[in-house]
Amino acid sequence: MKSFIAWLTAVFAMVSGVCAQAVPFERLNTNDTLLLIVDLQVGLYGLARDFDPTLYYNNMIAHAALGQLFNLSVVMTTSAQTGPNGPLPKQILEMYPNVTLIQRQGEVDAWDNADFRAAVNATGKRQIVLAGIVTDVCTTFLALSLRAEGYSVWANVEASGTTTALIRDVSNLRMEAAGVHLVSMFSIVCDLMRDWRSDPGAAQVLPWLSQYYPAYGMVARAHAAATNNGTLIPGEMDLV
Ligand SMILES: *[C@@H]1O[C@H](CO)[C@@H](O)[C@H](O)[C@H]1NC(C)=O
Ligand SMILES: *[C@@H]1O[C@H](CO)[C@@H](O)[C@H](O)[C@H]1NC(C)=O
Ligand SMILES: *[C@@H]1O[C@H](CO)[C@@H](O)[C@H](O)[C@H]1NC(C)=O
Ligand SMILES: *[C@@H]1O[C@H](CO)[C@@H](O)[C@H](O)[C@H]1NC(C)=O
Ligand SMILES: *[C@@H]1O[C@H](CO)[C@@H](O)[C@H](O)[C@H]1NC(C)=O
Repeated sequence: MKSFIAWLTAVFAMVSGVCAQAVPFERLNTNDTLLLIVDLQVGLYGLARDFDPTLYYNNMIAHAALGQLFNLSVVMTTSAQTGPNGPLPKQILEMYPNVTLIQRQGEVDAWDNADFRAAVNATGKRQIVLAGIVTDVCTTFLALSLRAEGYSVWANVEASGTTTALIRDVSNLRMEAAGVHLVSMFSIVCDLMRDWRSDPGAAQVLPWLSQYYPAYGMVARAHAAATNNGTLIPGEMDLV
């Protein structure tokens, strides 16, 4: 019995060791990161029903703005944009007047388009951050294709949208099984920044968060307001 338990413990240690190895903490590096803006088109926007529409719109714009904040390489693509899918929002196009926009005429998976593959390859980057509409098709197909080609992929789960929570969840599981990192926008920001003392660091990131991630931006605002011209009220001083 004792030796059986010892054997079981050894097997468990081996298995958990393998699992731990299978999911290393790969860090985003601004020098090796490519931001993909995939089919975040005004006509497709209505399919993103797994978010509050105002929140989702802001998340789309914030996803695009990651490239400006960290001076990332960016590639944009659309699917049949002269039809009902429509163009990318003007707010995104205006951020990147000089960035390649690959207008796919039929390919559902952006990776099936030779111009798109060439544009991604031309950047020389191996770490891909992406989001698209819809999660189960545009994001998942491309993420799986990129994984098959050996790229590291981070799916911004806040900026891809689809019709239902069930579809979102199974799509995320499918990507996760292929080694795609499922990440929040704030985790992308912090991973790229790494240290508040970096450049870009607090000076650039706090205003960005104030605009796109008020949950944290308001922390900075409250601290700034209190430090700038705050007064303690009775009871507060004893809290710290
Ligand atoms: C990116 O490259 C620059 C120049 O080679 C280097 O100074 C910087 O540390 C690199 N950034 C990271 C996160 O490795
Ligand atoms: C942004 O990146 C480009 C190359 O991709 C580089 O030429 C430029 O100097 C960078 N700008 C800043 C502010 O780092
Ligand atoms: C786009 O390219 C033009 C011409 O090279 C340049 O003047 C302009 O500053 C660029 N805009 C941005 C946002 O990079
Ligand atoms: C780009 O394609 C060339 C030739 O197919 C390949 O050798 C190279 O590794 C690719 N670069 C990237 C960043 O994938
Ligand atoms: C600080 O707050 C007081 C009271 O509200 C106000 O009169 C004063 O103008 C403020 N000073 C600054 C520098 O904001």
